[in-house]
Amino acid sequence: MTINTVEKNKSLEEMGLIEDGKIINLNPAKISEIVSSHEIDSEAQLEQKLIAADKAFKTWSKTPAPTRAKYLSKANEIFTAKKEELALTLHRENGKPLEEARGEIQEIIDVFEFFIGEGRRLYGMTGQSEMPNKTIMTTREALGPCVFITAWNFPAAVPAWKAAPALIAGNTFILKPSELAPLSGKLFVDVLNEAGLPEGVAQYAMGTGSVGEYLAKHPLSKLVSVTGSVEVGRHVAQIAAAGFKKCALELGGKNSTIVLRDANLELVLDGVLWGAYGTGGQRCTSTSRLIIERSVSDGFLKQLVAKAQDLYTDKPAINYAPIINKKQLEKIDNMVQRAIKEGAELICGGKILDDGSNSGYYYAPTILKAKHGSEITKKEVFGPVLSVIELEENTKEEFLNKALEIANDIEYGLSNAVYTQDFNLGMQAVHAFESGLVYLNAPTIGAECGGASQFGGWKNTGNGSRESGVAALETYTQYKTIAIDYSGKLQRAQIDID
Ligand code: UN1
Repeated sequence: MTINTVEKNKSLEEMGLIEDGKIINLNPAKISEIVSSHEIDSEAQLEQKLIAADKAFKTWSKTPAPTRAKYLSKANEIFTAKKEELALTLHRENGKPLEEARGEIQEIIDVFEFFIGEGRRLYGMTGQSEMPNKTIMTTREALGPCVFITAWNFPAAVPAWKAAPALIAGNTFILKPSELAPLSGKLFVDVLNEAGLPEGVAQYAMGTGSVGEYLAKHPLSKLVSVTGSVEVGRHVAQIAAAGFKKCALELGGKNSTIVLRDANLELVLDGVLWGAYGTGGQRCTSTSRLIIERSVSDGFLKQLVAKAQDLYTDKPAINYAPIINKKQLEKIDNMVQRAIKEGAELICGGKILDDGSNSGYYYAPTILKAKHGSEITKKEVFGPVLSVIELEENTKEEFLNKALEIANDIEYGLSNAVYTQDFNLGMQAVHAFESGLVYLNAPTIGAECGGASQFGGWKNTGNGSRESGVAALETYTQYKTIAIDYSGKLQRAQIDID
């Protein structure tokens, strides 16, 4: 195993983000501000971290789950006490508005709260044996050191979605946060250690893709969980497959909101505004396609344009997130310009915002009218760009069928929404959407944590695993079936009724 750091980091170095083997973390809202810098882990350091994780696993996995829950409770007290401080750091390194950053730190607290409770459950099962005087039961066992490779858009909450179920189930972990926003992940791990978790249970490793690759390949790691692009997911899944490791993927999205003519348009307005432009459209759950009946479209778009343009009125923008870096900003603009060349009609935005002081990477809230099938309606943009697809059908039923066909004609399957006051049609849409998350009269973003809410997608969005809810325990445990025979003789399993 080798990491060719120089080769792999070339494009980042060219952008000035890697200097002398260090990650330089800039504030995307104010690019002159360096938020933090981090040494990139060497192979020898990574090896040491994996050895420590493996050693810690031996005792942590044997610690009773209610005791493990106590450590998580202690950590949650610290997260609660440090909420504002952590939110401010997140706001600086990722650029997202402070209110959103506070919400993200609250997600850590909420997801921990849920899995602390699981420490007193973590249910297995008992069943009927084929033989008398015999009991069969199944327990859930931990896997070993887990590797988390996470993205920059939720650099605090997403590590928590992975760590909380992994830890409560008895695993140890190494987090490889995104090199574009690594500080929040580091601080997350620091809090766990401050709470007194035994050494080696919770660690982080700094670097670019090659560090994640090294950790995923290493025989001591037993699971890899990735939140990122389809390309990264496919690459890591292939590495994991070669080592027969469990692999959990949370990848891209291309999410639609369908609006029927009877919808409460005030509600749609707020939902689409938040869904398309919250976090600058940099969520895998962002609303990127609006499929709407032509009869209500013009009036609706007029209001949406006014509200969208309002998002960026003050400088620096308080309620509007910047784009994470220059490369991403240019990628978004290139996609928009290509869409216009392909025939899309620009309704508003469509440009990099420049206030003259070059303070941040902002892209104007953008609306395009586009035809289904063009690149902008099928590929993930990961920016504040909404494609509107207008349809003219005779009846609401005909419109809904056509809209669902378009919404589902996509490689991803993460989140979709439908707005209507017709209960029957709304429920029919809920059942017909091909996605892991579906919203009725609510935006595509803002999934809740814990309990009944299982975060994850169908099709190319993932490989069946779920996060933040109870189903995450499926990812972080393996079953052990225990057969206890108290008959005192050899019993052979076979049912004979004659
Ligand atoms: C992501 O974009 O990677 O549902 C996660 C939401 C957020 C999570 C988004 N709670 O929009």
